[in-house]
Amino acid sequence: MNNTFIIDNPMITDRLTVLRMKSTGTRKFREIVKEISTFLAYEVAREFPMRDVEIETPLCKTMQKRLDVGEISIVPILRAGVGMIEGFTTVYPDVRIINVGVERDHVTHKPVAYYHKMPKNIKGGKCIIIDPMLATGGSIEYTIQLLKDDGCDDIVVVSILAAPEGLTAIHAIHPEIPIYCAAVDDHLNEKKYIVPGLGDAGDRIFGTEE
Ligand code: PRP
Ligand code: URA
Repeated sequence: MNNTFIIDNPMITDRLTVLRMKSTGTRKFREIVKEISTFLAYEVAREFPMRDVEIETPLCKTMQKRLDVGEISIVPILRAGVGMIEGFTTVYPDVRIINVGVERDHVTHKPVAYYHKMPKNIKGGKCIIIDPMLATGGSIEYTIQLLKDDGCDDIVVVSILAAPEGLTAIHAIHPEIPIYCAAVDDHLNEKKYIVPGLGDAGDRIFGTEE
């Protein structure tokens, strides 16, 4: 899993532990997803190119650095990815948001796509796919392919929790794409849920669990 970056800062790990607890209610769950997402959003920027610029402070002229990336888009995978939007827009307020609707079939566990709206000029920009859960990797793999088919060749994936099976699957097909997450868990169960995991992220964010 060469291109996986685990951001295991103690502040994130502590919040992730609360996120995992079944006693954590919807309001707290949403709040923590937002907090962790903000942190991950900063970490992703670590690799962003910078350019030198001359500026003038109140004291003197000086050479400093500014970001040198093209247009950044975040690509939340509906539904659960919506919970991460606010964290990302806190860090990148000017981003474009490209919504992609994918849900797993409950029997086959394969991704079923139901919505997307691509902008015309996706080529040349950076796309950050956000989805709190990377389990089999199917939903994210579908989304990567959608973006590549539209000409995007600068893609980054950000999840909160990932399973080794899903990471291996995505790296095998898209080895150049970096994947950032807060933790890699142990395995997938027979229903393809991440174990120990945190349950169904979409249901817990939207309060729709039975
Ligand atoms: C969840 C999650 C991911 C996907 C991960 O979505 O938010 O999109 O499952 O699983 P995978 O890696 O095996 O594809 P879900 O299908 O439950 O839809 P929802 O967000 O609408 O609840
Ligand atoms: N989707 C979730 O929301 N949770 C899992 O554990 C796996 C897929």
